Amino acid sequence: MGLKKATMVLDKAYQIGKIDPRIYGSFIEHLGRAVYEGIYQPGHPSADAEGFRQDVLDLVKELQVPIIRYPGGNFVSGFQWEDSVGPVDTRPSRLELAWRSLETNEFGLNEFANWTKKVNSQIMMAVNLGTRGIAEACSLLEYCNHPSGSKYSDWRISHGQKNPLNVKTWCLGNEMDGPWQIGHKLAQEYGRLAAETGKAMKVIDPSIELVSCGSSSAQMPTFPEWEAVTLDHTYDVADYISLHQYFGNRENNTEDFLASSLEMERFIQTVTATCDYVKAKKRSKKTMYLSFDEWNVWFHSNEQDDKIMQDTPWQKAPPLLEDMYTFEDALVVGSLLITLLKHADRVKIACMAQLVNVIAPIMTDKNGGAWRQTIFYPYLHASLYGRGVSLQPIVSCPKYDTKTFTDVPQLEATAVYNEEKQEVTIFAVNRSLTDSLELECDLRSFEGFSLTEHIVLESDDLKAVNTLQNSPVVPRKKNAQGFDDGILRAELSKASWNVIRFTHS
Ligand code: AHR
Repeated sequence: MGLKKATMVLDKAYQIGKIDPRIYGSFIEHLGRAVYEGIYQPGHPSADAEGFRQDVLDLVKELQVPIIRYPGGNFVSGFQWEDSVGPVDTRPSRLELAWRSLETNEFGLNEFANWTKKVNSQIMMAVNLGTRGIAEACSLLEYCNHPSGSKYSDWRISHGQKNPLNVKTWCLGNEMDGPWQIGHKLAQEYGRLAAETGKAMKVIDPSIELVSCGSSSAQMPTFPEWEAVTLDHTYDVADYISLHQYFGNRENNTEDFLASSLEMERFIQTVTATCDYVKAKKRSKKTMYLSFDEWNVWFHSNEQDDKIMQDTPWQKAPPLLEDMYTFEDALVVGSLLITLLKHADRVKIACMAQLVNVIAPIMTDKNGGAWRQTIFYPYLHASLYGRGVSLQPIVSCPKYDTKTFTDVPQLEATAVYNEEKQEVTIFAVNRSLTDSLELECDLRSFEGFSLTEHIVLESDDLKAVNTLQNSPVVPRKKNAQGFDDGILRAELSKASWNVIRFTHS
């Protein structure tokens, strides 16, 4: 137990770039209880006229999620979108191969569009490039975005959606490099298909943005060759390349686990470098941006999920991927959010995977209420206070090695300047399991600002979880920091997530 020191310098002029609010996106897949019993449950005491759970709507609204990826994930590679629209009683039930479940299609595309409106969010739609191709991607886009006067746009109107859904962001398939994917492809195969699909889609609606599939994780044997080969085909038509990565404390080595964001950082740097290599090769003027459209902690439920899918397949909404998040998971999520902010110049979209019940910040009880998991809080704080410009902090702090990583900084920190609201917010994780950190931060360039609050998430129990009945992991306000002459002195407790806010007075 001890006290270590760290310094940070923030200056209005040291900027990484403008933060695209879509880095606080999330994801709803037809998987487990994300849709059924999650966002949609007619008959639940809180359900509205459309069957949407109001308790979940409220929590999603609290998070201010700007964009939500849908309908998968692995699910999308078997998705027949036509089954999910039109009169509900005519929609077929289907065997869903990705998660060995039964998809009743009771909730589909238009229900999701109506739900996203209620949570003030936008849709990020994925097309099926696993078992389907160019024609189906085009017909789906025509259904969603074309005003009227064509087969699929008129079909949408006949389904009660007079106005186009105007879906702006489209994923060209999901994790097509993964052997588990239905319709898995080699890089050359995917690159060609994605390029031709994207080309046709942009003929229908030139205003859309496209995400080319990157690797399913940095551990894939085909990474980063997959990026180099596929981008060779898709560079001109795509606007983003996707990154997916999940983290877990599989060996119960918390020190190592808490350094996970270093892996995320290396992944972002490598993908950025690969994009820029293709840019140089093509003598292109265009910059490829990154869409980190699946990220989170995911490991708690793995064994149980395998068992459910193997022993009791083809259930409707089985309880899959229901990770119950610990306090230490929240610290990792906090440091992952900081890492995304540190790369705001290239990462323009990011989706916490997922949003409700499935590896999610929000959990529901079928017969009861909904609650906030531990990871809800760093996500909430970043989404609320992390809008504006990402600042380039100059940080100095103690470093150490863990089993997997070398030179792990004890302090993971960054800051955001919201010029419009005249606010500056520091986000900081003290990774040490033993030592608190005395942070001295120079904010002298922010003249006239005063300290508003220091929010902290801390716990003596790294494995504490929140449940419907009991939430031991909740943020609290911390006193006793000094802010004089533009210099902040704050104590960051061992193993803590901190949000320190300043406002112009
Ligand atoms: O988010 C859960 C799953 O993780 C998604 O379906 C898939 O894309 C990824 O492997």
